Amino acid sequence: MSVEIRRMTREDVPEVGRIGVEAFNELMARHNRPPLYPNPQVGPLAATAYLSIDPEHSLVATEQGKVVGSVFYRRRGDTVSVGPATVAPAAQGRGVGSRLFQRVIDDEPQARSMRIMQDSLNLPSFELLVRIGYSLGEEVAMFTLPEGSREERDGDAAVRAARAEDLPEILEMDRRRFGSDRRRDFEFLRRFGKILTIHGEGRLQGYLAQMPTPGRTMLGPGGAESSQALQRLIRGAVGETLGELSLVLPARSQEGVKALLGLGFRLVGLSNLMYRGHWQPPAGAYAYSLFPESH
Ligand SMILES: CC(C)(COP(=O)(O)OP(=O)(O)OC[C@H]1O[C@@H](n2cnc3c(N)ncnc32)[C@H](O)[C@@H]1OP(=O)(O)O)[C@@H](O)C(=O)NCCC(=O)NCCS
Repeated sequence: MSVEIRRMTREDVPEVGRIGVEAFNELMARHNRPPLYPNPQVGPLAATAYLSIDPEHSLVATEQGKVVGSVFYRRRGDTVSVGPATVAPAAQGRGVGSRLFQRVIDDEPQARSMRIMQDSLNLPSFELLVRIGYSLGEEVAMFTLPEGSREERDGDAAVRAARAEDLPEILEMDRRRFGSDRRRDFEFLRRFGKILTIHGEGRLQGYLAQMPTPGRTMLGPGGAESSQALQRLIRGAVGETLGELSLVLPARSQEGVKALLGLGFRLVGLSNLMYRGHWQPPAGAYAYSLFPESH
């Protein structure tokens, strides 16, 4: 069957959102794991948000006019962050995903670095990405803190919500860590979520975004000068969020992972940060983000 790729429109959102939830939940079910999106409402909401942040970089694949898959990607300085990419389970294994990923590569010849987060459970997608030139950057660990597992803690005077005037310093610190210019993401996060900061010695020592979604508040992106500063930000977020929390850290960070386990977080998945072109592990302590997804 012939596959066509075109720019996504608002009318595609319900189907793109439905396929996104179905593809990830089916991947989890195949491995006897709980659904990534227990609340299917998240699909269209996430698709709407991705499309509104980067309308020019959202693509659908169609077969006989029917949407069967999609990919969102974004330019952040000279870095291109790809994902999520999903293909309807019934249409998988026929080359649709490869076509979508290849189209992003073809459309972004100037990119110095391309990055995508790939679930370790999805062995075919790891193979697919390596075939089209991606390498493994690092393994990342996704944690959740279930609703209702909070302990009363005193607040931390150094931790507070970012103000508009903090944004340039946050962006500068973030760019130094990740090498991407994520102004669009941080503006979105400040508008619809919140960014926590930690200050000391008269300057910014770390930042951590909080993005509420139905059923779960996602923490990240975040970065800090030390593991302790990042942990204080995480404790700040835990202290002020009632529902379930999720957070994605580099899996090799023994100190960071152990501290999360100590707070009651549980490991729910491992993923791979894959890159094409330039990438180096960010310096200091940091957290990745899955929504809005940019690396
Ligand atoms: C990743 C994803 C988009 C790939 O889409 P796709 O259309 O199946 O991809 P392709 O058919 O182009 O390539 C998949 C490769 O894996 C193989 N494959 C696909 N499904 C398979 C399966 N169930 N069992 C074994 N091999 C499979 C294909 O044969 C193909 O290999 P080939 O290039 O040698 O033919 C799709 O699997 C998906 O939506 N997964 C869930 C969401 C996800 O993990 N997204 C990626 C990160 S955001």
